[in-house]
Amino acid sequence: MSIQWFPGHMAKAKREAKEKMKLIDVVIELVDARIPLSSRNPVIDEITQGKPRMIILNKSDLADPNMNKVWRKHFEDKGHVVIEVDAQKGKGIKGIPPAVKEQASAMIEKMIRKGMKPRAVRALILGIPNVGKSTLINRLANKKIAKIGDRPGVTKSQQWIKVGKEMELLDTPGILWPKFDDEAVGFRLALTGAIKEEIFDFQETAVFFLKYVKEAYPEILKDRYNLTEVPDDIVELFDEIGKKRGCLVSGGLVDYDRTAELVFRDFRSGKLGRLTLEQP
Ligand code: G4P
Repeated sequence: MSIQWFPGHMAKAKREAKEKMKLIDVVIELVDARIPLSSRNPVIDEITQGKPRMIILNKSDLADPNMNKVWRKHFEDKGHVVIEVDAQKGKGIKGIPPAVKEQASAMIEKMIRKGMKPRAVRALILGIPNVGKSTLINRLANKKIAKIGDRPGVTKSQQWIKVGKEMELLDTPGILWPKFDDEAVGFRLALTGAIKEEIFDFQETAVFFLKYVKEAYPEILKDRYNLTEVPDDIVELFDEIGKKRGCLVSGGLVDYDRTAELVFRDFRSGKLGRLTLEQP
């Protein structure tokens, strides 16, 4: 992910996503299962313009399995079709083509009524950076990428990937920019990799993370950092973790920068186990 998001980039991304929308029947909205709301962008409603769409909770292998169920129900209650996926390992992706077809059933019925032979349903994957769009496209393509020619109005570089007999997927995803309107959203995006490391502060991000985790998953902190109790005070918690992990400066004081980065890396690498960073 190399883009810094400026208004010009956002306008361009929106224009490109809207262009792609003209070619497709169903939108596959990809979100990060650890931050299903923070990894959405409200502009998606405007971009998708009422096209049938479904939500994929990707990276579900990294999220709390109980919270995956909670989030799935949350979105289903709002009328969405939801699928939990681990695009890296391919888990859950078998459910995507039938769900895409189901979403396009009204369109298919209309074609049949008009005496036309129903064609494959055309889908687009849409989501913010690093949410797993390319990984999912490659998975669905199953390495046997069948290029089946351009469609009118698309630049030559865009191709359709055949997924089974009844689905075609645009080979380049629609990219949305992350939300920037709320500090907490920014921290969640930083933690999960949607924002470049150079532009955020490890200490601030780790404070946000530890405050959440000590409430939602205290046992995880106890296990990982060998704590008998999780201190309520965040500085004390930093001290405990820093000491246990040897993140010290001369004189035996805790090095907060190193401790923060250690906690951050432990989360990113999955060493803390499966965590979801927000609740509906
Ligand atoms: P993008 O096109 O939306 O920008 O995302 P991309 O597919 O490049 O995926 C971003 C990172 O997320 C990749 O790791 C990819 O392997 C990982 N990823 C995608 N889907 C899943 C999933 O379901 N589970 C897990 N565990 N990982 C997934 P990477 O290239 O190593 O980048 P990073 O780990 O440094 O973020």
